[in-house]
Amino acid sequence: MFVAAELRELLDPSCLEGLDVTWVRSDEPTPEGEFVGAVPLLTRWMGGTEFKRLPKLRIVANCAVGHNNVDLVAAEMRRIVVTNTPDVLTAATADLTWALILACARRLLAGVDMVKTGNWTGWHPQMLLGLELEGATLGIVGAGRIGQAVGKRALGFGMRITYASRTPKPEFERATGATRLELRPLLRESDVVTLHVPKTPETQGMINADALAAMKPGAILINTSRGDLVREDAVAAALVEGRLGAAGLDVFTDEPDIHPRLRAAPRTVLLPHIGSATLPTRRKMAETAVANVRAVLAGAPPLTPVVP
Ligand code: NAP
Ligand code: GLV
Repeated sequence: MFVAAELRELLDPSCLEGLDVTWVRSDEPTPEGEFVGAVPLLTRWMGGTEFKRLPKLRIVANCAVGHNNVDLVAAEMRRIVVTNTPDVLTAATADLTWALILACARRLLAGVDMVKTGNWTGWHPQMLLGLELEGATLGIVGAGRIGQAVGKRALGFGMRITYASRTPKPEFERATGATRLELRPLLRESDVVTLHVPKTPETQGMINADALAAMKPGAILINTSRGDLVREDAVAAALVEGRLGAAGLDVFTDEPDIHPRLRAAPRTVLLPHIGSATLPTRRKMAETAVANVRAVLAGAPPLTPVVP
């Protein structure tokens, strides 16, 4: 099997015992030949061309919960199992989402900048006034594992919770008092909109100029899912024109490049895709991926299969 070399230090050697591992850095091309398993990072595309050059491949164990870097149709045609790393990263990613919500709502970066540049002249009753979260409305787009974990954390802040999802989530509603809305009303009513749907043809570009125009003036947009969900030039324009209050983004369309207008736009908090970046979480992600390979090579069902 080949495994992303960046995972090497996260994996206990015992977890690789008995497996024939070739380490491949993410800046190296996808290997070809007799490999039966692959553990790529989310930055490596695995599609038909790659599968053709890997005729013995039985499993792609993506080291991420998002799997938009894997062509599921091509994998199914070749009977290659695809797995991901759900659950183990839910808490870390929900926490990071909240870091962005708080940073945007309370204008954290503007405050840090003021202090560091020596421009703070003293306490002022109208300086850096932010959004009062208590009583404000949170709109969760995609109430899956991470979306729901973000919603549960919102209870502690006294927020009203709404969500848009393909299917109702009665348990989540019972636990949080959340209300299910269609996307448009959710955008209209929310003070903070947070995106947690996967990247699919249906969700790509869902936050475009029209969606942004439907949002409450001054609302905050948070995205810790995939950059392609938002039209970055439209977000930049809404920030420049003052219609969007702030944007907290951990993911971008063309990572690690960031749309120049977005990079230059005011009231942003831009992070380098660190949603799941805690040591225990990253360890569990790597271990889950390897455990999936081990199971499939042993003829057992995968632990966390991606269901197309
Ligand atoms: P999940 O449990 O599968 O949740 C995704 C939810 O999106 C599901 O509940 C699904 O709805 C909903 N959904 C799908 N298409 C939709 C649509 N068109 N409209 C409304 N809802 C839709 O996934 P997760 O574990 O929460 O992860 C979510 C995403 O977060 C991943 O795909 C990944 O891209 C991203 N992520 C990013 C980081 C980071 O480092 N920033 C870390 C982890 C994950 P139904 O339940 O109705 O089917
Ligand atoms: C990270 O972005 C993931 O999908 O796990």
